Amino acid sequence: MKLSGKNALVTGSDQGIGQGIALRLAQEGADVVVNYRKNQEGADATCEQIRQMGRRTAAVQADVGVTADARRLVEEAIAALGSLDILVNNAGIEKNASFVDITEEDYHAVIAVTMSGAFFCTQSFARHRQDVKGGGRVINISSVHEELPFPHFTPYCMAKGGLKMMMRNLAIELAPLGITVNNVAPGAIETPINKKLLSDPKLLEPLLANIPLRRLGQPSDVAGVTAFLASADADYITAATIVVDGGLLWNYSEQ
Ligand code: BGC
Repeated sequence: MKLSGKNALVTGSDQGIGQGIALRLAQEGADVVVNYRKNQEGADATCEQIRQMGRRTAAVQADVGVTADARRLVEEAIAALGSLDILVNNAGIEKNASFVDITEEDYHAVIAVTMSGAFFCTQSFARHRQDVKGGGRVINISSVHEELPFPHFTPYCMAKGGLKMMMRNLAIELAPLGITVNNVAPGAIETPINKKLLSDPKLLEPLLANIPLRRLGQPSDVAGVTAFLASADADYITAATIVVDGGLLWNYSEQ
């Protein structure tokens, strides 16, 4: 097992990609704190599966888009497991709205949860790792949209692009503390964030046509790479984005 003796926090791990990551880290031997905003049932189900693997776990309610909550989440995770070695910033939301129509409220909500949440969780985590002088791992779940335009999702793209530059900056700034910082950039993964799109063949077919591997990704596709980045196999990797998208980002062809 790659992560025996390690303690991890995964934000937004009550469902979707975050849940898949929490389970995979536990499978690799880590103890894992699960975080949720509203879906306590999903968080409890994730914890139950982690316990069945013989690992320690706890579910912590916190809206990472609220700075005080993000800080409390990291503190409660440290209190629950004794310390934290690995932080996975996964929580994110998107709103489908044209630039001219999107409301101020939705703009701020997307930026707060998707970008600022990662910022303040990482700040609390880095302070903790500085105190214990033990190095650490930060892995942000960004998106192909840290690079790729996505009309009608401008705040989401801004937040993911922000995560890209936060990752690059912190990889340099936190290197003296032995903390590596990397991004995993999923493409179209089958999760609740995509529910509407996935249930509408008119939307799903053109999306699949854009994916060279011709299938949606699964949370486990993203979780495996995240476990790798959290492990000793990735000791020398920092400031990198690993794209997990079936070829979507760089797809181009001419007839
Ligand atoms: C978004 C999905 C989208 C996918 C591919 C993800 O970041 O959350 O809504 O389908 O990128 O464009």
